[in-house]
Amino acid sequence: LKRLTKKALNTVLQDSFKQDVEKAQHLQEVVPQPMDGHPPVHPPISMDAHDEMLPDDAEEVDKEHDVDNDGMGFDETPIEEALLNDICSMQVLYQQVKFFHWIATGENYIASHRFFDEVAEAILNQIDLLAERLVFLGINPIAEMEEIADRSYVEFTQMDNAFKFDGAISIIDEALEKVIDNLKNNVMKAGDSKNIGTEKMLQDFVYDLEVLQHHIRSFK
Ligand SMILES: [Fe+2]
Repeated sequence: LKRLTKKALNTVLQDSFKQDVEKAQHLQEVVPQPMDGHPPVHPPISMDAHDEMLPDDAEEVDKEHDVDNDGMGFDETPIEEALLNDICSMQVLYQQVKFFHWIATGENYIASHRFFDEVAEAILNQIDLLAERLVFLGINPIAEMEEIADRSYVEFTQMDNAFKFDGAISIIDEALEKVIDNLKNNVMKAGDSKNIGTEKMLQDFVYDLEVLQHHIRSFK
């Protein structure tokens, strides 16, 4: 009985060993084993495969996202601060346009005097909406003159000598461009932080200011 048991046990062990050897051989066929004892090396990813992993325009999108309107790198100003800078800049722009409304002279006086007032009124309306939005977001809007001047990225430009219509139009156009660019950045920031109401308001501002900009450029 002992002999029989031993024989049966050997048969079982041999079968098990055979199965293990077969398994090992199968694995060697699937995963090539290095001959020098180093860990297996994965086949290198070809450049073609790497390119397939990234969309063609991925690099372009990153570049776009990393460059602010000054082209000096990604603007990391928190949206709350950026909106305060916008409201200050818009107040300076409002004063600038109103100033031209007041000092306008020349043969197109009535047309330019009225036009500057319409532009000023549109900007003032946006200032009001933005201020109230800031309050809704728990941020105090800025109305203090010194802080407005400190924060504004729009600089007030004097026109000491005789009023020049083309000069006034260029000054407003340039300032509007800065405001529109900054608002566009803030549309993206608001969207990123799911601040949808602010995002929608700023999108409307951008659209309306671009219409104004078109009128201003057509006036030249
Ligand atoms: Fe007036």
